[in-house]
Amino acid sequence: MRIILFSGKGGVGKTTISAATGYRLSELGYRTIVVSLDPAHSLADAFDLPEEERRSAKGLPVKINERLHIQEIDIQEEIDRYWGDVYRFLEILFNTTGLDEVLAEELAILPGMEEVTSLLYVNKYYREKDYDVLVLDLPPTGESLRFVSMPTVLKWYMKKIFKTERLVMKVARPVVGRISDVPLPDESYFKALENFYEKLKGVDEILIDPEITSVRLVSNPEKMVLKESQRAFMYFNLFGVNVDAVIVNKVIPPEAGDCSYLRSWIEIQKGYVSEIESYFSPVPVFKVPLLKEEVFGIERLRLLSEVIYGERDPSEVFFRERPYEFIQEGEGYVIKIRAPFVNKESVSLLKGEDEIVVRVGNFKSHIMLPRKLRNLEPEGARIEGGYIYVRLS
Ligand SMILES: Nc1ncnc2c1ncn2[C@@H]1O[C@H](COP(=O)(O)OP(=O)(O)OP(=O)(O)O)[C@@H](O)[C@H]1O
Ligand SMILES: [Mg+2]
Repeated sequence: MRIILFSGKGGVGKTTISAATGYRLSELGYRTIVVSLDPAHSLADAFDLPEEERRSAKGLPVKINERLHIQEIDIQEEIDRYWGDVYRFLEILFNTTGLDEVLAEELAILPGMEEVTSLLYVNKYYREKDYDVLVLDLPPTGESLRFVSMPTVLKWYMKKIFKTERLVMKVARPVVGRISDVPLPDESYFKALENFYEKLKGVDEILIDPEITSVRLVSNPEKMVLKESQRAFMYFNLFGVNVDAVIVNKVIPPEAGDCSYLRSWIEIQKGYVSEIESYFSPVPVFKVPLLKEEVFGIERLRLLSEVIYGERDPSEVFFRERPYEFIQEGEGYVIKIRAPFVNKESVSLLKGEDEIVVRVGNFKSHIMLPRKLRNLEPEGARIEGGYIYVRLS
């Protein structure tokens, strides 16, 4: 299965491009599902679904054609329908009273229900194999980053806390229970935790496998949007998720230059488009013109998919490069992490028992160390040509 994630700043065209991509895939013969987390139901709008159909969907997949379904996730429905026990656990997790401060800090970047739900769906659809391609329309950038960082954080939580905490509780409950009012999690908490973990198991490997998962960053030729795309690009890389294309949407086409009013806009955008191309190179940049009208309904989605992909198959992996690798250097090792647009001041390193934590700004990426490297210490980092090199010895 292929999983294609669309991420980008609010309003750039993520939902529309997800819809167009899904439609094109179905035309090419792939069984496709487009999943959206947008509570505004704009995916259904993009397909111009009748009001009745959209109301009766209640967050479940709606059939568009023989090979295409769309699904707008409805968190409340989800909780009622499938994930009751899982959410019970998350409720406890998100209200992390009683947990120590280190843990609380780590959990501060835990995503909300939307991101968790979409991860659960990624895993569900991946396991069930009913679709060839899953297209996921992610919420605006910040939340997208929490989405990809979550598996690492959860894994950390499970590994560091779950096993030991459970043991501790078995011993501590009878004692602590008698001398304090602090509520301790009971066995059902751990059962829910286990269940939750089982449903998410493997999703991190799916997300970092470039043959399965691609992120496509949707951008516009504007200063602020470009900045945000660069930041997102760096973080996706840091989390090891492959960005295989950048889509610059809503580029005013040259023929609009007949209108003197738009001529200067065309010039300004030209500058940003070439800036985008040089920044993201060698990742391919797709330029998509601003169409004459809003994009909704099958006909316009088809037109849009043609201008985005031309003759290409959207399920292709347009670009692949390992996000990080371990390289032997003399006696020691170097971790080479692809991370464009990072400056040295914003990077800090931490060594855990079996991992290196690379912190860039407020985000952390945990890189699990192979057994062989676990006893090595990070000696420092250098930044060169869009890579962070972390020296271990
Ligand atoms: N290439 C295009 N030409 C013309 N209109 C477009 C184009 N791409 C997107 N639009 C229009 O721009 C509007 C915003 O697009 P869309 O809803 O896909 O953005 P989004 O990134 O999903 O926004 P949000 O962050 O709010 O979810 C829509 O009305 C859509 O029809
Ligand atoms: Mg949207």
